[in-house]
Amino acid sequence: MASKERYRNVDLKPELKSFRDEVIAGLSEKQKRISPKFFYDEEGSKLFNAITRLEEYYPTRTEASILSAHKEEICNLFSDHGALFEYGSGGSFKTEILLDSCKRIDTYVPIDISSFYLEQSSKKLLVKYPSLKIISIALDYSGDFTIPMLDLSGNIVAIFLGSSLGNFEPEVSKTFMWNAMENLDEKDRLLVGVDLVKDKDVLERAYNDKSGVTAAFNLNLLKRIRRELRSDINPEDFEHYAFYNDEMNRIEMHLRAKKDIHFSVDQVKITMKKGETIHTENSYKYSVDQFTELARQNHLEIKHMWCDAKNYFAIFVLKKI
Ligand code: TRP
Repeated sequence: MASKERYRNVDLKPELKSFRDEVIAGLSEKQKRISPKFFYDEEGSKLFNAITRLEEYYPTRTEASILSAHKEEICNLFSDHGALFEYGSGGSFKTEILLDSCKRIDTYVPIDISSFYLEQSSKKLLVKYPSLKIISIALDYSGDFTIPMLDLSGNIVAIFLGSSLGNFEPEVSKTFMWNAMENLDEKDRLLVGVDLVKDKDVLERAYNDKSGVTAAFNLNLLKRIRRELRSDINPEDFEHYAFYNDEMNRIEMHLRAKKDIHFSVDQVKITMKKGETIHTENSYKYSVDQFTELARQNHLEIKHMWCDAKNYFAIFVLKKI
């Protein structure tokens, strides 16, 4: 079969209209903020990959080890000719653990905001897995979304890995879980990778690596504004600032002004005082109880929970009640 027939991309044009408007709206608020979904342009996606390989950044390898340890049980969640959906698929690296070991997967459906990344990783997977079908969907799943009708022959196992759920505000997590479930049936499953509450030092080190990759990733957002919007913002006027907020159970990432500054974005003037920040991301950490409660509120039942030996990270298997 020619690889063209095995691949389809459904581009719902997730970000075209919103980048300019969202940046200007976010920079006009009292606590300035920019949504983390804009991190992932080509450069940002590369930097993010580098983050996942950092010594200090334990979530990726920990989650991968949990997936490997339970790959047979995960495979058994699929019917024959099942479909593997993946929200926030990025480079699909961890997905290969499942594709390598599970012949029941007939179709892979990566869903991501970055169509650049979707096409890149899909092409690579089509070569590596000659009988796999891929339907990639470029979509912003942080708002309300519906997966278009796909002509699938088996059930669906949807995965949402990398603790990406933690990057949503609690209200948005609920909406996401709800929407994800709405797109599933009785015999389908949802797997979510969750970073657990733990020692503050371990958490803070993970977002403040010595080699400065996380800082470069955060600062790339400003470079992207310069590249894509009409703006004279100077990334050198800012520094990466990340810390654990105990009360909120979250890592906060900010870009902090090193001095008083003025810049404009598409003719809208912005000023910032020295020390003032642009809040770019939260990464919520959950306890098992908190996540269980979140699932319950969305009429989801936990079928399994798998952790690593240090209880750093958990994968939950959910089904509709
Ligand atoms: N969701 C993961 C986390 O919060 C990965 C991630 C998203 C991340 N954005 C990040 C990691 C920024 C480091 C910095 O940990």
